[in-house]
This record gives sequence, structure tokens and C-alpha cells, in this order.
Amino acid sequence: MSRVEVIGGAVMHLGDCLDVLPTLAMADAVVTDPPYGIKADRNRNSERWGWVDYGNGGWDNERPSPEVMALVLKAAKHAVVWGGNYFTDMLPATPLSKWLVWDKGQEGFSLADCEFAWCSFEGAIRRKTCSRSRALQDGKEHPTQKALAVMEWCIGQLPKGCGSIIDPFAGSGTTGIAAVRLGMNFVGVERDPGYFDIACRRLEEAYRQPRLFAEPPARTVQLSMLGDDK
Ligand SMILES: C[S@@+](CC[C@H](N)C(=O)[O-])C[C@H]1O[C@@H](n2cnc3c(N)ncnc32)[C@H](O)[C@@H]1O
Repeated sequence: MSRVEVIGGAVMHLGDCLDVLPTLAMADAVVTDPPYGIKADRNRNSERWGWVDYGNGGWDNERPSPEVMALVLKAAKHAVVWGGNYFTDMLPATPLSKWLVWDKGQEGFSLADCEFAWCSFEGAIRRKTCSRSRALQDGKEHPTQKALAVMEWCIGQLPKGCGSIIDPFAGSGTTGIAAVRLGMNFVGVERDPGYFDIACRRLEEAYRQPRLFAEPPARTVQLSMLGDDK
């Protein structure tokens, strides 16, 4: 099944990015948070943390295949891949690459103290401290939901002139919300219908917020999948 929702300057595709990415026009940047293959969708108590367990977990059992990762990297001029340390065998060996570090401001907790994002472009390593409790203020609708403040900071690290962003593993849509808040166009792909709906709703809510959005540049995304019912 595929579905496309257009929300302001954002377009959300319900489907597998292996199928959707080849239909999209190239964006300025891919900013994404793929499954790390560490079973982060399990071993957590969704009631305690408040995210929705759709019972169709298992999405974090495996990392994307090298074929999918190659498509992801081809989808835009620049790339930022969260969990880059889990994909060193699939990412190009670029010794001067910039890395981003999300420092969760904690040590020795049950989860990782930091997360790393690999960048396809050069630059000094940059670090953002954002505590887990700060991240939870955004709400928690996905077990691995990124903090909005971290994603806004991350997008701000892209080379100058980026106006459009693709996230092929959109989850609850945090990359998209950060992108549209920064006045960029966004295309997201999510294959879980529950998280797809959450991402669409969060994007709509972001647009409803009384905030001055910069006018997004003319849309360049291809809507060829509209009405395409697989
Ligand atoms: C790590 S989560 C992203 C969480 C996101 N950063 C957020 O803030 O909500 C990865 C998401 O990718 C989705 N996914 C996994 N494989 C996919 C594929 N091949 N195509 C599209 N989505 C996929 C999963 O359903 C999951 O929601």
C-alpha cells in the first residue's frame, strides 16, 4: 500500500523507501535516522515511556541493506546519517567527514550516553548537549524519537544553501518538523502506517503553531506516486 500526504511544504510517503526513493527528485540533503539493528523497538516499556506500541515492531531487528543505504546516499547532494557508527561498513570512507554528536548529558545510563551522525561533507566534529528529559518535553510517540532541538541543530550544520530535505526513515516525523520550522521543503518516507499517521499529524500541528515560517522554496518533489495504490 502506498499513500502520499502533502502538508504545507512537506510531503509524506507511506511505503518502503526502497520503492519510493527512486521516484523522488534529488534533494539538497538526506537527513535520516535509520534502524540501527539494535532492537531499540523492544525491551522498553511503552506504557512507562508513553509511546505507542503498534504491535508490528521488529523494525529495528536489522539495519538497512547496503542496497538501501546506497539509494539513501544517492537521494541528495549531502547526507547526515544518524547512527553512522553502526554503518561504517556501508558508508563511504571519508577521513575528513564531519561527525555530529548528540550528548545526552548522562553517563552510564542503560542507554547510550551519546549518538553519532556521519556527514557526507567535511567539517569539525560538533556536539550538542540535550538531556533526555528535555527531549521528552516534545512528547514521545515513537520509541526512538529524536529531540526536535537536536534535529534543528543538526539541520543547521548542513552546508549553506540547502533548501530541501529527505528523510527515508521518517518515524514520527521529527526531521520534517525541524526542516519546516527552518523554512525548508521536506519529503519523508515511513513504512509503518501508525508512525506515518503520527508524522503527518505532527507536521500539521507544526504548521498550525503561531510561528513565522519562512516561505519554503518552490517544491521540487515528484508526486508521481499520488493515487498509486500498490
Ligand atoms: C529510528 S526510527 C526513526 C525515528 C525518527 N527519527 C523520529 O524522531 O521519530 C526508523 C523508522 O524507519 C522506519 N523504517 C524502517 N525501514 C524502513 C524502510 N525500508 N522504508 C521506510 N521506513 C522504514 C521504521 O518503521 C521506523 O519508524
